[in-house]
Amino acid sequence: MRRWGKGLGLAALSLAVSALAWSGIGEAAAPPVVVPAKVGSMAAAVKVGQDLYMHDRFGGMRTCNTCHTNGGRGPGKLPNGATIPSLQGAAAAFPRFVPATGRVITLEQQLVKCIAGGIGGRPPALGSVALNDLAAYVTSLSKGAVMGSQFEGH
Ligand code: HEC
Repeated sequence: MRRWGKGLGLAALSLAVSALAWSGIGEAAAPPVVVPAKVGSMAAAVKVGQDLYMHDRFGGMRTCNTCHTNGGRGPGKLPNGATIPSLQGAAAAFPRFVPATGRVITLEQQLVKCIAGGIGGRPPALGSVALNDLAAYVTSLSKGAVMGSQFEGH
């Protein structure tokens, strides 16, 4: 049984499509996270970084958590359904050599890359409070991880 007239059905569909476009992968849209100029502790900075990670779109269409799900704990999932590794321990393997460019990148540069490419947003400047707090959160996921695996064989 058809419960909607044709017009209403189309309107509902276009509403659903624009809601999807606005919210990325169906997450509720949230305003940008307010980054305080100063906080009182590392724990507070990590909390700001976590808020950025979970909620900020940096003017783009996704959050970090869209792909690196569960706050980065456990495997992530790309919009095309492909599985990507957990971010736990990832920070301990930076700086990293990128064969494609023949250059070494830092964790912060990786975050910039993910904000510009993965999120489609405007990355905060290197050295900014927002990027450092985000890096602090991502690095907190590597607490206790062994650093320097990228130097094996060197
Ligand atoms: C559209 C999906 C997507 C989004 C959104 C995204 N990333 Fe990524 N991220 C990737 C992919 C794919 C890779 C691996 C390939 C690469 O280096 O670009 C990656 C790699 C990483 C790495 C390195 C992981 C490793 O094991 O070496 C870190 C750290 C990271 N992302 C953090 C973030 C943070 C923090 C955000 C939010 C600011 C974010 N990403 C947003 C897809 C995404």
